[in-house]
Amino acid sequence: VAVPPAFLADVVAVVGPAHALVDHGVVASYETDWTGRFVGRAPAVVRPSSTAEVAGVLAVCREHGVAVVPQGGNTGLVGGSVPLHGEVVLSLRRLTALQAVDVDAGQVTAGAGVSVADVQSAAARAGWAYGVDLASRESATVGGTVATNAGGIRVLRYGDTRAQVLGVEAVLGTGAVVSHTGGLLKDNTGYHLPSLLCGSEGTLGVVTAVRLALVPPDPARAVALLAFDRPAAAVTAANELRRTLRPLSAAELFTDDGLSLVTRHFGLARPFPGSYGAYLLVESSAASDPTDELAAAVRSLGGVADVAVAGTPGQAAALWRLREAHTEAINALGAPHKLDVTLPAAALGEFVERVPGLVRGLAPGARCFLFGHAADGNVHVNVTGLGPDDETVDGAVFELVAASGGSISAEHGIGAAKRRWLHLARTDAEIATFAAIKGALDPDRVLNPHVLLPEPS
Ligand code: FAD
Ligand code: MLT
Ligand code: ZN
Repeated sequence: VAVPPAFLADVVAVVGPAHALVDHGVVASYETDWTGRFVGRAPAVVRPSSTAEVAGVLAVCREHGVAVVPQGGNTGLVGGSVPLHGEVVLSLRRLTALQAVDVDAGQVTAGAGVSVADVQSAAARAGWAYGVDLASRESATVGGTVATNAGGIRVLRYGDTRAQVLGVEAVLGTGAVVSHTGGLLKDNTGYHLPSLLCGSEGTLGVVTAVRLALVPPDPARAVALLAFDRPAAAVTAANELRRTLRPLSAAELFTDDGLSLVTRHFGLARPFPGSYGAYLLVESSAASDPTDELAAAVRSLGGVADVAVAGTPGQAAALWRLREAHTEAINALGAPHKLDVTLPAAALGEFVERVPGLVRGLAPGARCFLFGHAADGNVHVNVTGLGPDDETVDGAVFELVAASGGSISAEHGIGAAKRRWLHLARTDAEIATFAAIKGALDPDRVLNPHVLLPEPS
């Protein structure tokens, strides 16, 4: 892969020679996605340190007709953050300015390269909390989570990333720098660009800073793991708890295949003497100890075969590990196909029970793991043992999702992985509108031109 000779000199003039990387040994670490399924080649990695430098780099890209893939923590799971078509990688990890928390407003402005964990810590130090949490918190960046509209384990309580974003600073594909980070709670002055950039996957603008709303902390929490004979019963329980347990802050599903994999891979203790068809990790958080409310709500549920209650913070962390370690344990089996889907609440139980048989019928040698955010209708179907380009199972699962009234992406986005199935989730009119927005904000197609939308005809 190559770029026009003058391109690099012009980029170096913007970011300095130390931040225009061309040595392949260094560049290689930016070329493979977290799963290992998506591997590209980049002629260079450019690492700007300010909004002005991002604008300068994009001006050079437009002038030379060079496309970039914006990259934050590179924890994305749909192949959208790596250069699959020889793009230059635009790493935003040096945009690490984190302003002081505005304690009165409960807000903070963070550079795109700040990690989610650092936002959480800064919020906690100021007596607030950040409403987004996900297992990739140490590496995933504010810019990446906005660009993917990340979900995670707190969506049922606080909503997705979009729900936390009050304002954004970004460099659009046109070169325009838009900045509206005052943080006013009420501000009806036209189109809401932050909403447009949330979930845009680096195709419309490069996010450089974000004004985030914080939430009041809930210092007391109770965690329990519930066992069920069948996944559908666990899903029913998650839906019931949304109604009966007001301080419910997480309801996470996994099955025995996933539990066995995680406990074996990490050498962890199993939580119950027996094995069950499905597990639901339930957390409730409040200002004062919510254990009694959690216990009462669990007692009123049907179909609970066993319960493990965490008596200490250490035990709570151990139960959470069983859920959060799924991603890493599955990856260790070989690059998985990760199908992050969402179903109407009433359809999720049946879907979760049908998928393993569907996968077995199409790919008898494959292994299928289901886990996810049950109370959001969101399940992650992970399939290992398939070639990276063998998309038979992906297509069949997405067709079933569409036929069940669901969406082919709940929280990870479309990226490169699901692009060919966008029509299952969006009408022709919607896709044409997306293309018109892309044409207006990135007319030279320098921003991640090969993800999310179909290639222009
Ligand atoms: P990257 O992976 O670098 O990029 C993701 C996308 O955003 C790409 O399209 C990229 O081009 C674009 N992008 C990145 N930065 C910018 C920017 N500044 N401006 C414009 N575009 C940009 N996701 C969930 O939603 N919920 C989960 O629970 C969850 N858990 C995870 C657990 C693990 C262990 C892992 C590895 C991943 C998990 N993810 C989850 C996926 C991932 O962490 C999120 O998608 C996250 O938002 C990606 O952030 P990032 O900084 O790593 O972005
Ligand atoms: C999760 O919920 O654990 C994440 O979305 C990551 C994954 O799907 O592996
Ligand atoms: Zn998830």
